Amino acid sequence: MGIYEILENRRSVRKYKPDKVSDQVLEKLLDAARVAPSWKNQQCWRFIVVREPERKKQLADSMPDNNPAKRAVGETAPIVLVLCADPEASGKQDGKDYYLLDAGLALQQLMLAAHAEGLGTCWVAWFNEEKVRSTCAVPNNYRVVALTPLGVPQKQPSARPRKDLEEIAYTEQWGNAVK
Ligand SMILES: Cc1cc2nc3c(=O)[nH]c(=O)nc-3n(C[C@H](O)[C@H](O)[C@H](O)COP(=O)(O)O)c2cc1C
Repeated sequence: MGIYEILENRRSVRKYKPDKVSDQVLEKLLDAARVAPSWKNQQCWRFIVVREPERKKQLADSMPDNNPAKRAVGETAPIVLVLCADPEASGKQDGKDYYLLDAGLALQQLMLAAHAEGLGTCWVAWFNEEKVRSTCAVPNNYRVVALTPLGVPQKQPSARPRKDLEEIAYTEQWGNAVK
């Protein structure tokens, strides 16, 4: 799969087959995150790999019942990754906290690599942070940025709509059509 195909076809996957993810592939995916760019190359992110069924259930308990990824985290995905980041190990500019961007880039790289390996993921940011912190013993100086289930998709979900290019890109100055 070429890069554009990977970008085009990645979906948030919320239904998984029970198939295992090999340690070798998991390591490749974590490595894809490891090489992501970051503020002053501080690499403020940390990943926790959760496989124990009881711990996955506790992670799901941190999510509201109407979070559509709850079953994927608690039951169906063989792995859940917990993304943490240390705000002090990244930069802040004009009130913008770059640790969220650093961590987001790392996880997105992992997600794209996962898709290239035929695996599914789903960004999950709607959860109770303190519950996740105690479930995974995350130190207090780290924020829990996101979770993702990881596994073999049951099927390829359909594409969600996106804005047209004219709505999101301008030429030279705000509002000038790009094409
Ligand atoms: C920062 C962020 C947080 C998200 N949190 C959740 C979540 O808690 N639960 C969920 O089911 N999906 C969550 N999503 C997934 C989005 O709903 C999804 O990316 C969007 O609908 C587009 O669909 P697609 O990823 O399949 O293209 C989140 C996505 C992002 C980027």
